[in-house]
Amino acid sequence: MGINRRIFLRGTAAVGAGVSVGFPHIWIKNADLAYAQNGEIKVGVLFSLTGTTAIVEDSLNKATLLAIEEINAAGGAAGMKIVPIVEDPASDPATFADKARKLVVSDKAVSVFGSYTSASRKAVLPVFERRNNLYWYPTLYEGRECSKNVIYTGAVPNQQQDEFIPWLIQKFGPKFFMIGSNYIYPKEENNYARLLLAKHGGEVVNEEYVPLGHSEFSSVINKIKSTQPNVIFSTVVGDSVVALHRQYRAAGLDPEKMPMASLTTSEVEVAAMGGEAAAGHFTSAPYFMVHKSPENEKFVAAYKAKYGADSVTHFVSEPAYFQVYLFKQAIEKIGSAGDITPENIREAAKDQEMVAPQGKVKIERENLHTWLWPKIAVAKSDGQFEVLKDSAEWMRPDPYSAYPNQKCTEAGLTEG
Ligand code: ACM
Repeated sequence: MGINRRIFLRGTAAVGAGVSVGFPHIWIKNADLAYAQNGEIKVGVLFSLTGTTAIVEDSLNKATLLAIEEINAAGGAAGMKIVPIVEDPASDPATFADKARKLVVSDKAVSVFGSYTSASRKAVLPVFERRNNLYWYPTLYEGRECSKNVIYTGAVPNQQQDEFIPWLIQKFGPKFFMIGSNYIYPKEENNYARLLLAKHGGEVVNEEYVPLGHSEFSSVINKIKSTQPNVIFSTVVGDSVVALHRQYRAAGLDPEKMPMASLTTSEVEVAAMGGEAAAGHFTSAPYFMVHKSPENEKFVAAYKAKYGADSVTHFVSEPAYFQVYLFKQAIEKIGSAGDITPENIREAAKDQEMVAPQGKVKIERENLHTWLWPKIAVAKSDGQFEVLKDSAEWMRPDPYSAYPNQKCTEAGLTEG
């Protein structure tokens, strides 16, 4: 019996069925604490359905629920039904933390799938670390995190930038104007971009941050006009992506001369802004909806069948989808319902691999991040991207690429 299937009773309070009072300080199994019960496993689904990042997160919620539905229709995970408990944290980090606590403590979810912004992931992290629960995070992010309580299935900076920055310098020139939303993700991502720019002969002509939800870019556009960069490097997120692209067009700027190069603009933001506003700008990511593979054809067809012919998949909804399948594989590796705990799922998830819509992916055992397939693509007026460069190999996740003295290992963060 695993230690986490027992409870160490202190005092005299009865903690569940069959537990009698008056036997302090004994180890006792409490059936009420089992995570898998009556052939069901509860999981939390924590994406914003309202607020400034709902533009992306609504699709992450949908992709997660699609995978759960498919898995249940095919017999479940090790024969058990996955039961999703959906919460709306409303694009607000404090609400994320409250809802995460509810899912982990009251609902007893064995894992939670959630978050787009790093601000919301940072807000929930203490909940998962304190309770030793497991958060499955599908979003590209800045790296520099080494938690035993998060499985990271989105790209980290080396997987989006290592090929992108030299490609951009070679194609457009060395002068970069950085524009990002004002929080940890864009700042750390730009920190790594600066290292690559220095290495490849590029330079930063300006670095600007706007508040989350910002929609008025005229002063930024004036600075772009006055500094005349070769590339506008964007880590703006949420609704602001739409405003920035539309105002760039309205200001008469030309992507052929001064394109935006983004790590955050996907098919879902393009659908919101309209293909005309996006056309000619570049994104680096491990997945685009046009990717040709049998797994992607199945994903796109199932997504459209459930959510409408106009709906799009993208480089965050794809990991939101495949990470549920990796969770299922981990449950099946554990096998027995009584042994299903967040900790055992984490251990079973290490080295799990599968053929996802983007190609074969794998959870790196050392740092719980994912091997992915970087690509560079240009947006087209029909709302899709054209892939211009596809990596020959999957790329190892290096969440500390900007910090060569630090390394995330199974034992934790090492420095030296
Ligand atoms: C992000 O905040 N990781 C996009």
